[in-house]
Amino acid sequence: MANAKKIYLDYAATTPTDREVLKTMLPYFNIEFGNASSLHSFGRNAMDAVAEARKKIARFFDAKEDEIIFTSGATESNNLAIKGILRAYQKNTKNIGKIPHIITTAFEHSCILKTCQKLEEEGSAEITYLPVYSNGIVKIKDAQNAIKENTLLISAMYANNEIGTVQPIAKIGKLLKNVNKNRQQKIFFHTDATQAIAYFDCDVKKLGVDLLSMSAHKIYGPKGVGILYVKKGTKITRIQDGGDQEFSLRAGTLNTAGIVGLGKAIEILQKTKGRDAKKVNDLRDYLIKKILKEIPAARLNGSRIKRLPNNANFSFSNVEGESLLLYLDAEGIACSTGSACSSGSLDPSHVLLAIGLKPEQAHGSLRVSLGKYTVKKEVAIFITKLKKILQKLRKVSGKVLQEYYSQKNI
Ligand SMILES: Cc1ncc(COP(=O)(O)O)c(C=O)c1O
Repeated sequence: MANAKKIYLDYAATTPTDREVLKTMLPYFNIEFGNASSLHSFGRNAMDAVAEARKKIARFFDAKEDEIIFTSGATESNNLAIKGILRAYQKNTKNIGKIPHIITTAFEHSCILKTCQKLEEEGSAEITYLPVYSNGIVKIKDAQNAIKENTLLISAMYANNEIGTVQPIAKIGKLLKNVNKNRQQKIFFHTDATQAIAYFDCDVKKLGVDLLSMSAHKIYGPKGVGILYVKKGTKITRIQDGGDQEFSLRAGTLNTAGIVGLGKAIEILQKTKGRDAKKVNDLRDYLIKKILKEIPAARLNGSRIKRLPNNANFSFSNVEGESLLLYLDAEGIACSTGSACSSGSLDPSHVLLAIGLKPEQAHGSLRVSLGKYTVKKEVAIFITKLKKILQKLRKVSGKVLQEYYSQKNI
């Protein structure tokens, strides 16, 4: 990695761009810089590069090329999936006056949860949030029981970004295939595969999904580009007005360099997925084992087994996650207390509360996420430093925190 002295253990927040990816992207900034919609040779060259990337990406997901919609990342893809399905439903004159029902899970990324909350507040949709229990996994039975006559969409993340637990997406897909046989209103199925894609099979046919979101910067590609897979025949409407790019589903000049980078990142991922997953998984197991054995009052959040190979999320009693983070940062080690997007907030993580943690346990959480450049020595240094920092912090903040929580009665 670029900065040899620092230790980066926050791959769930973002990954460094692979050198090969960067090299492939560079000419599209200042040599092949044409607008992919232009008819002249500059534009045609850019469009050819976009088409090549689209082909690789479609192959990776076992999709058709015109089912891949380029976006600015998973936040946009998730917004387009939910609002686009809802808007197509509302546009159908048969549905005037009807309020559709959307099912999601209690611990989705904020871009899904906030979208759903907003739709509920404005009265455009009824929302059911499926529980995820202490292991951080939804139950198929709950999904089945939540289905109503007016259910339009199920949106469930493939793997959680904070605790890394993996959801039974293919099983929900199978359930919906059966349910949809006897329904007038098809239930569409969307998954946010942003964290899962680096490690799990994302064949859209095997998963049984109509829509899938992902983002390049979680797989050693650039920031600001992602895709929404949209199965042919899915009733979805654009949510952003403008040009007719991306089969009229996403207006805006194509990010050629980003798309080329995403194509390359996917190509590399396809070749290295199993190998990287095994290496990261072994390191993660070493980390979990040592921490649970050597640090008192430490707990692993979420299922021990059904989790991303690169994720370990701990709660340490009598410490504040933020203090822990700052002390680790001072030692040159980067981790996270939750999702990067909510790191400016001091509210306890909604994910940790959803799996039943008390606020004080959620406040003492630390997410450690490894990646393909992580080496054992870095993990060993991290554990040694963490132990020292915890000893120090627990001495100082333990009493203060206990007093605070007892005053607040929590
Ligand atoms: C599960 C999940 N969904 C969505 C996003 C948002 O992705 P992007 O940064 O591409 O908007 C993230 C990023 O942290 C994520 O982990």
